[in-house]
Amino acid sequence: MGKTSRTVLAAAALLATLPAGAQQHAGTASLASSGRWSHVPVGKAPTPPMGWSSWNAFRVDISEARILDAAQRLVDTGLAGAGYRYVNVDDGWWLKRRTGDGRLQVRTGLFPSAAIGGAKGSSLRPFTDRLHAMGLKAGLYTDIGRNACSQAYDADSPNLPEGTMAEREVGLSGFMDRDIALFFGEWNFDFVKVDGCGLSSYGPERAYVASGQYREVKPLIIDPNVYQTDIAGTKRLYAGLRETLRRARPDGDFVLSVCLWGTANVRSWGQDHGTMWRTSSDIDDTWSHMVHNFDSVATREFYAGPGRWNDPDMLEIGNGDFDGDHLLQARTHLSLWAIMAAPLMIGTDLSKAPGAIVDLLGAPEVLAIDQDPAGHQGVIAYADNDRQIVVKTLADGRKAVLLFNRTQAPTTLTLTAEHLKMAASTPITVRDAWERQDLTPFTGRRNFELQGREAQLLVVSGRHALQAGYYLSERPAEVYVARDGIRALQADPVIHRMLDPYGGSTEGSGSRPVYAGWGAPRADATPYDETLRVVNVPYRHGIGALAGSRLEVKVPAGSRRFEAMVGVDDSTRGQAASVVFEVYGDGRKLAVSRPMRFNQAAAALSADLRGVKVLELIARQVGTDTDPVLATWGAARVE
Ligand code: GLA
Repeated sequence: MGKTSRTVLAAAALLATLPAGAQQHAGTASLASSGRWSHVPVGKAPTPPMGWSSWNAFRVDISEARILDAAQRLVDTGLAGAGYRYVNVDDGWWLKRRTGDGRLQVRTGLFPSAAIGGAKGSSLRPFTDRLHAMGLKAGLYTDIGRNACSQAYDADSPNLPEGTMAEREVGLSGFMDRDIALFFGEWNFDFVKVDGCGLSSYGPERAYVASGQYREVKPLIIDPNVYQTDIAGTKRLYAGLRETLRRARPDGDFVLSVCLWGTANVRSWGQDHGTMWRTSSDIDDTWSHMVHNFDSVATREFYAGPGRWNDPDMLEIGNGDFDGDHLLQARTHLSLWAIMAAPLMIGTDLSKAPGAIVDLLGAPEVLAIDQDPAGHQGVIAYADNDRQIVVKTLADGRKAVLLFNRTQAPTTLTLTAEHLKMAASTPITVRDAWERQDLTPFTGRRNFELQGREAQLLVVSGRHALQAGYYLSERPAEVYVARDGIRALQADPVIHRMLDPYGGSTEGSGSRPVYAGWGAPRADATPYDETLRVVNVPYRHGIGALAGSRLEVKVPAGSRRFEAMVGVDDSTRGQAASVVFEVYGDGRKLAVSRPMRFNQAAAALSADLRGVKVLELIARQVGTDTDPVLATWGAARVE
C-alpha cells in the first residue's frame, strides 16, 4: 500500500472522530511566548525567485529544444542578467516509472539528450548541465500524489505518461526519497514545483478513474471546500517533502514551490512548508483572472519575507490580454507582481515575444522593487473596488508605491503623505520606475491621472511622520504570524471574482470565495479588512488581529521602545469577551494591558526594547464569546 492510501485512511479516521474545528487547527502553534523568531526558511530564496517556466507558454507541448531555446533567449536578451535565472520544466517531461526499481524515465523523444541508455535508461543530467553551463538554474515539476494534473486535465495530449497503471504513476507518492534524490542529487536540479492533483483529482467520481485508467485515491483536497479538505493530512505530506529536500540538499540551496492553488488553507501554512506557495487557482491570460490572482496575495502581507513568498502564479506577460498589443496592461501585470514581491516566472514563448515585451520584462527599476532585499510585501494604503494604493517599504528606507486603476475608465488618484507615513510638511521626491525619471517633488498630496487599467509604479522618499522609529505595519517581512487566532476557517471574500476561466459563460454559479485565510492579522486594517478604530478613534497605522493571536516581530538593534494604543476594535463581532494585550521581548514579559472590553477607550501600552531581538505581540482572550473578538494594536511602533 502506498503512502497516500495510508494517509488517506488515517485522515479519514481522524475526520470521523474529531469535530471540524479541532481537525482544521490541529498543530496550531501555542499562544505562549516562544521567545524567538520561529520561522525556518525552506530552501534558499532571499529574494523572490525569477525565471521562465514552460507551462503558460506551451502547456504539456514541451520539448528540450523549446526549453533550451527559451534559456538561450533569456541569456541573449539580457533577461537572465536582469535576474530571470530559473528555467523550469513544467508538466509533460516524463515517460513512465520503471517497473522493478521505480526509476522515473524521461520522454526522450522530447528530450533527446536524456537518452543515455545503459542501466539508467534516461537522465536529465545532460540537460541541467547545459542550463548550468549557461549560468542558469534548473527547475522540474512533479506531484505530491501518485498522478499529475495533466493526466487528469490534458487527457488528449500525446505527452502523457505511458505503460501500465503502475508505470503511469509518476508522482512522488511512495517514491518521495527516491525521486527527490534523483532530481536533486543525480540530475542536479535546483527547483521543484510540487503540484497537488494527485490529492484532489483521482476520486471515484472521475471518469478516468471509474474506467480503470488510474488508481482511485480518496481526495484529501476537496477543491473548493476547505471544510471537507484534510488540511492536516495535506500539510503532513508537504512537511515530509520539506524534510526529504533538506536531506537531499544539505546546503539548503533549493526552492520548493508548493502548488495547491490556494486550497487546504495553504495561504496560512505555506510559509512553514515551502519556499513559495500558490495562493490561487491557475492564472490565465485574461485581465479578470490576473486581478483575481493579484487579490489572492494582496492581503497576505504578514506571510511573506526573505525565504518565504506568496505566489500569485506565473506571469502571463506576452500572452492574450498582456501581449504586445496590450503593453499598458502588460506593464500593470508586472507592476502588481513587483509591489507584492511575488516570484516572477515568465510564461510566454520568447521566440515569438516582441521586443517591447522583452524590454518590459527587463525593466530594471521595476525588477529592483520586486527584488528589494528587505523582502517586504506592499501594504494596502487605500482601496475601493476600482482603485488601490499599495506601499512597499524598501531596504534603503525609500518606498515603492503602486497606484492602480482596476477599471476601464480614466481616473484620478490622490496620493498623500499619510499613505506613505511621511511628514505632510516637507517635500517628497518621486521617481517613476517605468519611465526611469524623476517627477516634481510634492508636499502633502499629489494627484495622478491614470488611464483605464493603468498602474503607475513610483519610488518616493521623504521625512518620516515619526520623529524617530517606524510603524510595525511598514515592515511586514519582520512579522511572523505564529498564531492567527482563527477559530473557524472562512473563505476570503475580498478577492475579485473572475470570469469563469472555461469560456466566461454564466452557466455555472460563478466564482465564489474559496480560499481560506479570512481573519488573519493585517497591516493597517482589521482582520476583516476594515479601518482600525477604537471607540471612534481611527488608526490609519497599526496591526489588526483576532484575539488568540501571537505575532513574532524582529526588532533592529538599537531599538528603544515599543508603543501602541490597544483596544477591542469597534468592528468586533464578539462583544462579550475581553482582550489582554501582552508584549514580550525575547521571552520576557515586558508589558501587559488590563482586560480591554468593547467600547472601552484604547489604552497606551509601552515597553522598553533595549537589547531585545524578538518582540512578541499576544492578544489573549479573557472569557468566552461565540463570535471572534478583534484586537487592535493602534499605531504600533518601534522607536
Ligand atoms: C496545475 C498547476 C499549473 C500547471 C499544471 C500542469 O494546474 O497549477 O501551474 O503546473 O498543473 O499540469
